[in-house]
Amino acid sequence: MKIAILGGTGDQGLGLAIRFIQANQEVIIGSRSIEKAQKAVAEIENYIGKEEAKNIQAMTNEDAAAAGDILVLTVPLTAQIATLKSIKEFVNGKIVIDATVPLCSTIGGSPTECVDVWEGSAAERAAKVLKGSGAKILAAFNNISSASLLDFKNDVGCDCLIAGDDEESKKIAIDIINKFPGVAAIDCGPLSKARYIEKITPLLIGLNIKYKTHYGGIKIVGLDRK
Ligand SMILES: NC(=O)c1ccc[n+]([C@@H]2O[C@H](COP(=O)([O-])OP(=O)(O)OC[C@H]3O[C@@H](n4cnc5c(N)ncnc54)[C@H](OP(=O)(O)O)[C@@H]3O)[C@@H](O)[C@H]2O)c1
Repeated sequence: MKIAILGGTGDQGLGLAIRFIQANQEVIIGSRSIEKAQKAVAEIENYIGKEEAKNIQAMTNEDAAAAGDILVLTVPLTAQIATLKSIKEFVNGKIVIDATVPLCSTIGGSPTECVDVWEGSAAERAAKVLKGSGAKILAAFNNISSASLLDFKNDVGCDCLIAGDDEESKKIAIDIINKFPGVAAIDCGPLSKARYIEKITPLLIGLNIKYKTHYGGIKIVGLDRK
């Protein structure tokens, strides 16, 4: 599959790009600026090696959205609506995975608190913005830190909570995410569960600060994962 990461030039996008490559997927780094996307691809090549990074391309967000089979959104909350509007015409029924966390820090507050989103969660807001495009919206990657994703020589080592209304799309995403080293994707149910998934992240950021780490993540126990 071709995974297009929109706003893929930040830490979360770069980390996910590396892990998608490890999961044998093709990756497109999208950006508002083609030069910035190209720089990000060069950074990944330097970081993990040219041979390992042979399946990455750089594009503008619009071209990436048109070329990708699955779209992944990794922009701050304040850029979410504008980015989605800019690519809406290219969505055409594709899976769109939204990693957005509505952190207060995006509006000048604390990263250990969430802002309330009118629609209930950032992922539900994405669904509203993309209404009419046929997008199958999923929330995922909200609780996995970029530090764990970028640390490519080690397993990510935490669960990936995922929510969405389209069962087939969730299954496709889960099959790919389960190939990330040390990650189990957990289907949490309909998209409205993103309200809870997104709110775990400021808790994890607070724990990272308290315990002086960048790797805080979660693992759910007691589930029959077959
Ligand atoms: N970092 C983490 O550990 C982590 C963990 C879980 C979830 N998340 C979530 O993942 C998302 C991305 O996180 P990040 O740390 O990678 O964010 P980031 O570095 O602040 O931003 C990612 C990219 O978004 C684009 N962007 C930034 N401001 C924009 C604006 N005003 N308008 C349009 N595009 C803009 C930029 O891409 P271009 O300039 O190239 O267009 C930027 O490189 C956030 O919603 C965050 O809450 C992050």
